[in-house]
Amino acid sequence: MKKIFISSDHAGYNLKEQIKKKFRKRYIFQDLGTDNKNISVNYPEYAHKLCRKVSNNSQNMGILICGSGLGMSMAANRHRKIRAAVCYSVKNTKLSRLHNNANIITLGSRLTKKNMAFKCVEVFMNTKFEGGRHKKRVKKI
Ligand code: RB5
Repeated sequence: MKKIFISSDHAGYNLKEQIKKKFRKRYIFQDLGTDNKNISVNYPEYAHKLCRKVSNNSQNMGILICGSGLGMSMAANRHRKIRAAVCYSVKNTKLSRLHNNANIITLGSRLTKKNMAFKCVEVFMNTKFEGGRHKKRVKKI
């Protein structure tokens, strides 16, 4: 089973737990916290922790969840080997993999409904980078 790194702040905690439960038979999750939805934490710390793990291997993938998905993506994209995409629809999720070879999906628990978030995770994990003309563009990032 493929291992996926997952992390959230307090705002994303519930969705993180729901995603782990929904996909428990398909993936092994390495959960990097947070572990308590009632304690307010700083999302960049969780983003950086997860990005250090994902950066270790080009096949690694991760899921980051905060209230909007934005703060997590901003922090994650400071890492050289990370391409984090805020995903909110099937189409934009698909493109993040096909064209941008994103290795982290970020989700906004306060803006995206649970079932859409599940769909995004599913599509993200099952769509391959198209390569070709997109290769040189991704390299230029
Ligand atoms: C926390 O209140 C919230 O600011 C955070 O989860 C996230 O949405 C930041 O981008």
